[in-house]
Amino acid sequence: MKNLCLSIVLAVMSAMNVLAQGRQEILLTDGWQFSRDQQDWQTVSVPHDWAIAGPFDKKWDLQTVAIEQNGETEATEKSGRSGALPWIGEGYYKRTFQIPEGFDGHAELLFDGAMAEPTVFVNGQKAGYWAYGYNAFRVDITNFIKAGDNELTVDLQNKEESSRWYPGAGIYRPVTLITTDKTHLDDWSLVVRATDMKKKDLLTVDVDGKVVNVPPKTKPNVVTMAQVTIITPDGEAINSDDLKLAADGSFHTSFYIKNPQLWSPETPYLYSVTAKVNRVDWNGPKEVYDGQSYELLDRKTIKTGLRTMRVSREHGFQLNGQTRKIKGVCLHHDLGPLGAAVNKAALIRQIKMMKAMGCDAIRTAHNMPSQWQMEICDSLGMMVMAESFDMWLYPKCKNGYARFFREWAEKDITNLVLANRNHPSIIMWSIGNEIPEQWSEEGRQIAIRLQGLCHTLDPTRPVTQGMDKAENALNSGMAQAMDVPGFNYRVHKYNSNIKQLPQGFLLGSETASTVSSRGVYKFPVVPDDNSKFSSWSNNYNPNAIKMADGQCSGYDTEYCPWSNLPDDDWCWQDDYSWVIGEFVWTGFDYLGEPSPYDEYWPSRSSYFGICDLAGLPKDRYYLYRSQWNRQDHTIHLLPHWTWGKERRGEVTPVYCYTDYPTAELFVNGKSMGKRSKMKDGGRLDRYRLRWNEVKYEPGELKVVVYDEQGERVGEKIQRTAGKPAKLQLDVWTQHDAPRLKADGEDLAFITVSLTDSKGTLIPDADDQLTFEVTGAGSFEAVCNGDATSLESFRKPTMQLFSGQLVVVVRSGKEAGALTLKVTDKNRKITSSVSLTID
Ligand code: GAL
Repeated sequence: MKNLCLSIVLAVMSAMNVLAQGRQEILLTDGWQFSRDQQDWQTVSVPHDWAIAGPFDKKWDLQTVAIEQNGETEATEKSGRSGALPWIGEGYYKRTFQIPEGFDGHAELLFDGAMAEPTVFVNGQKAGYWAYGYNAFRVDITNFIKAGDNELTVDLQNKEESSRWYPGAGIYRPVTLITTDKTHLDDWSLVVRATDMKKKDLLTVDVDGKVVNVPPKTKPNVVTMAQVTIITPDGEAINSDDLKLAADGSFHTSFYIKNPQLWSPETPYLYSVTAKVNRVDWNGPKEVYDGQSYELLDRKTIKTGLRTMRVSREHGFQLNGQTRKIKGVCLHHDLGPLGAAVNKAALIRQIKMMKAMGCDAIRTAHNMPSQWQMEICDSLGMMVMAESFDMWLYPKCKNGYARFFREWAEKDITNLVLANRNHPSIIMWSIGNEIPEQWSEEGRQIAIRLQGLCHTLDPTRPVTQGMDKAENALNSGMAQAMDVPGFNYRVHKYNSNIKQLPQGFLLGSETASTVSSRGVYKFPVVPDDNSKFSSWSNNYNPNAIKMADGQCSGYDTEYCPWSNLPDDDWCWQDDYSWVIGEFVWTGFDYLGEPSPYDEYWPSRSSYFGICDLAGLPKDRYYLYRSQWNRQDHTIHLLPHWTWGKERRGEVTPVYCYTDYPTAELFVNGKSMGKRSKMKDGGRLDRYRLRWNEVKYEPGELKVVVYDEQGERVGEKIQRTAGKPAKLQLDVWTQHDAPRLKADGEDLAFITVSLTDSKGTLIPDADDQLTFEVTGAGSFEAVCNGDATSLESFRKPTMQLFSGQLVVVVRSGKEAGALTLKVTDKNRKITSSVSLTID
């Protein structure tokens, strides 16, 4: 009963943002004022991205540069390189928070990232600053606060030409106010480490932490001590006794856990670890607590998973003693139409989609991840390469991180590791991506230094970096110095690389960079490295960009001069045990870097994604699924089968992406022959089934698949669509049901497809739709995945792209029902869907 009363009091106090002594962690979400000029203020909630509403314009961050990483030597005009959104310039945020009378504890603010160069003021006094917009940082505000209302302001500034992609703008990740007793557990000190299994079923788990402001011992019988409890995924508590603090306040304990429930992508078991700081009076009344009298000064609980991992010449990458190849994707941090403003539902959607494809790892390219993303990777089961920098001393863009590297690199790596080392999902740290100084001794020295710092802060994880100039990195010795040598692209060099690597293995730290637009197919179908767009290449055709339409072909045969097709990577992984896996560039399209259309306008987002910017799967999703997902079968046919008169009788190749080895294709009942995957059959015939000579005729395209025994095991049909008749609405929420939490944060993603009366997609529809949300929530954003669209994500109207788009709606804070109505005015078609908010 006493406990119940206490939790009610705490809950009420936290709702009122009022603080009492003892640990309080309050998310500062609502009630922020935001301004670009300190004159006009608007009320916003954090996470917030000030630039995502647009408008899109070529003038934002227009750059005349040579992109050296792409092999360019002459500067040309690049529009859309960082998203063509208004993220450059200053932004100001302010809000108040309360401190109760009599508070004399410790107070700090935890920023999970703010874009960029945040300066933090409390009651008008500068309390903190961090240079890098992507990193978490803590600001001790104990000396700046007073009882009653306190004013917090955050000034931000974003410089032009500081990023190779859309960085976002504003306080785009959460801010937490943490207050504790003066004597408290240092927030990032608590660390839980599973060391190797001693015996087959016995895992050693070390827990360390540090108490700060330990009061001097005034009475011999009163001491400050720590106590650690581990709660298993089944809810069983394992306690350590009172732990003595060392002179610096640190403590350590070890547990042996029998038959541990180990964390893996397939079994994401989480343990809870609680550390308490107690003031123990050995002479106090015995009955109070465990035979002693004590005062609880602090208590912090973290969730973590227990697993072991190793990388070795003999066994490659091993998780819990099992060798596995990493099936990873790189992700930039933006969430498409939501911009950089981090949101749990949107992150869950991304991770679940990648998992359903069979992906088991992400690389947080090329910067520190958000805490929410890591928590979701922990709980859903997704391994992570947590990255830090896109450049060190030598700039890749004029105002990039190179401005800060000398002064800030160590601080940034320290915060990356300390803030994240309890996430079981993280399997390696990355100290950089395609660092220009790969060739130099200076570069090698920096790599050794940063890797060493990671080891000091976290002896359990290996360190990598993505190197794109293999010869340079091997000549300088940088590649040999890394725990995990990571190479970006250039698979044809793997064989020469491995001979020079004492490690005996290598990782495809970045692969593929295949480009495509959802639902767009180009003829004739031939592998194309897009060098026709590259002024430095022999294939350069100055007219190509003028003739272009800003789209790439969905046949998954287009890539970049420096990159390759998914099939090329798999050959290496399947044929050589020393290739320990890959991270595909990228899982989702992102804002900015519209290669191969860097010099084409309008184009403002990438084509690299396996899914488009709206999160809709491209055909390529099923290619990866057919190779990576070993639980579910894949049978996917492309292209669509609704072509105009001009394609009748024209060669229209048909591809089937399936995990099955063999299939037969039928066009209107006529067999086009059986095809089987061929190990030695050339570049595109090992992992895809292709019928290259099919001539289009409307009707039915059917594929029948056969397993290894020649048994017919499934089929898939693609039909020519009739007249547009319906708007089909498919709802995704994190609850796998048409309902959202009434917390003002939850999102539903509703895919809108224009179909004929039988439900077949109208694959080239570009109708203008409008959206109306009524009831217990609001319209949040819309995106159609078209990289050339300049329509705002935040206005309730947009054209379909390849027949589809995605509308995002947000829950309110009160229970009720929310309805989304979608209208196609021209065709006079309307469709609605309702969601429960509770
Ligand atoms: C890589 C780079 C990525 C992205 C990609 C596009 O070289 O690391 O950030 O630019 O190329 O293919």
